[in-house]
Amino acid sequence: MIVAHDEIPASPGLTQAVILVTGGASGIGRAIVEAALASGARAVAWDVDAAGLAACAEACGDRLRTARVDVSDESAVAGAMAELAGSAWAPTHLVNNAGIIGRRMALAEMDPAEIDRVLAVNLKSVLYCTRAFLSGRAPHPAAAILNLSSIAARTGGMPGNALYATTKGAIASLTVAAAKELAPAIRVNALAPGVIDTPIQGDVFGDRGKVAEIASSIPLRRPGTAAEVAAAALWLLSPAAAYVTGTIVDVAGGR
Ligand SMILES: NC(=O)c1ccc[n+]([C@@H]2O[C@H](COP(=O)([O-])OP(=O)(O)OC[C@H]3O[C@@H](n4cnc5c(N)ncnc54)[C@H](O)[C@@H]3O)[C@@H](O)[C@H]2O)c1
Repeated sequence: MIVAHDEIPASPGLTQAVILVTGGASGIGRAIVEAALASGARAVAWDVDAAGLAACAEACGDRLRTARVDVSDESAVAGAMAELAGSAWAPTHLVNNAGIIGRRMALAEMDPAEIDRVLAVNLKSVLYCTRAFLSGRAPHPAAAILNLSSIAARTGGMPGNALYATTKGAIASLTVAAAKELAPAIRVNALAPGVIDTPIQGDVFGDRGKVAEIASSIPLRRPGTAAEVAAAALWLLSPAAAYVTGTIVDVAGGR
């Protein structure tokens, strides 16, 4: 059946949305917070970086709420969500963005403590925050979860970063599984950024200044910006992507 234009319901947009962004104090997370506010939504930023959160709060005003939350700590996540649930700040959308590269290690030298740390921050956190979001969220007609995977999920990442790539691959799998389980109430998608010029690149290349050197290996001949990733994020979170779920969208300049 073809639906006439005047039968398509009016888009509620994101003006009534509260978008919870983990790792919201820096880089891509901060850019998503700013794009969310620019779209008319309110935002909640969770991060371990208290100074970064304070700077973000000062720049963003009273439509942003911040909290110091270590998303690798299940009880901290549950406690922080309990403070939002049932209030005007109960999230309608979740962006699982917090992540770390971890120490560069050869497979033969993998340190069990570092394995646990990277899995907890990058992967278990997504399960913890998703679970908490499902219990504490406020309904919204365009409810959505967005996860940050990486093209490293397919390429294996930089030498010595197998653990990071593993977590990003698992996030891609989890995204598809969650999209099926949570449909039709909540759409679930992921972004797979390529090389984006944010502070995390200091840990990838040892020196953030080296990011530009990789430009020749990128078809668009430059690293991406956090704002460019945020633009894709806002589209996936918005009603404009109402028929998009279970997808992993590259924002990688063709890399
Ligand atoms: N920058 C890139 O090139 C790139 C590429 C692919 C994927 N990504 C992914 O995008 C996401 C954001 O990365 P970014 O480039 O903005 O990095 P970033 O280092 O600028 O920001 C990451 C944020 O996560 C926070 N964080 C770290 N551990 C945390 C924890 N336990 N609890 C709460 N917050 C925590 C940090 O304090 C920081 O504010 C990550 O998941 C990363 O893997 C980035």
